[in-house]
Amino acid sequence: MSVVIDAQSRSAALAEVNATQVLDNLYAPLEKLALTPGWIDRKEPILRKEPKGFYPPWHWRYAECKQALDAAGRLVDTKFADRRNLVLRNPVEGNNFATTRTFVNAYQMILPGEKARSHRHAPHALRVILDSKGAYSTVDGEKTLMETGDVVLTPGWSWHGHGHDGDEPAYWLDGLDVPLTQLLEPMFFEEHPQGFVDVDVLTEVSPMRFTWSSIQSRTEKAAKDPEGYFGRRVRLEAPTMPTIGIYVERLEAGAKTRRYRSSANAVFCPIVGSGISRIGGATFDWARGDCFTGPTWNWIEHEARTDTILFTMTDEFLMRFAHYYRFEGAQ
Ligand SMILES: [Fe+2]
Repeated sequence: MSVVIDAQSRSAALAEVNATQVLDNLYAPLEKLALTPGWIDRKEPILRKEPKGFYPPWHWRYAECKQALDAAGRLVDTKFADRRNLVLRNPVEGNNFATTRTFVNAYQMILPGEKARSHRHAPHALRVILDSKGAYSTVDGEKTLMETGDVVLTPGWSWHGHGHDGDEPAYWLDGLDVPLTQLLEPMFFEEHPQGFVDVDVLTEVSPMRFTWSSIQSRTEKAAKDPEGYFGRRVRLEAPTMPTIGIYVERLEAGAKTRRYRSSANAVFCPIVGSGISRIGGATFDWARGDCFTGPTWNWIEHEARTDTILFTMTDEFLMRFAHYYRFEGAQ
């Protein structure tokens, strides 16, 4: 059955609709008119009692992904690959690239002396720097270092490229809201006409860079969560990229958070530390630099084995803006 577009065929379909005395015979002409009844049972219902996430919780291990990146470092030149990265594709059937419903993450590596060409795109992006000494980022004419433990921002449509003046390969975790951009469809992308745009002067203090030392001191000073759902937690301010909420929290060795679930989709990365998280039905035994997800409405609890600083990116504030946000704590 196909949709008809010419006026004559529409008239014929309408004649069938008007002549129908039996409900079952209504559906075929409706389909020709690009109409579907709202009252029929669907395999996937439109409304649900509560969220049923498409993306299961998943865990990627930095130590393993790093080996894969090193192999790519031998085989892939940034001269032909704009970015040498490995995308954390949630392996659920039917998914092309996304890590969660709204975010995509990737591990990326740059070799000493390399330059990743400047470009800009509608999606907002950030980087959690996992191992780097001497790599830097340029964002709209500002050059900032990307050192181990830093969180670096690239708001949508800002020109950005990367370079590396150090001696060892540099690694980081990318986080972008590309799946959201794909869903809403305002995707724009542009290569910089001059390739890599270098900047002479290094900016020491920038709202685009949260240094590792500032993350450490801010989480140390942060108050404990009186309800116990989170560790000593602070939000990193990124007002120019409102779709990605960023938290860092300190979980001392042995700390265990109280179980909660929320409508938000979250991606976690321990910048330092090790531990176990139970998310939905999964148990993830994680180490420094790993990436694991907490998709919508999955129960989440973390247990730190060693002193941990846990990075979180979340669509919580997007959900709040839309009045979709819900939070439920375990008793
Ligand atoms: Fe980019």
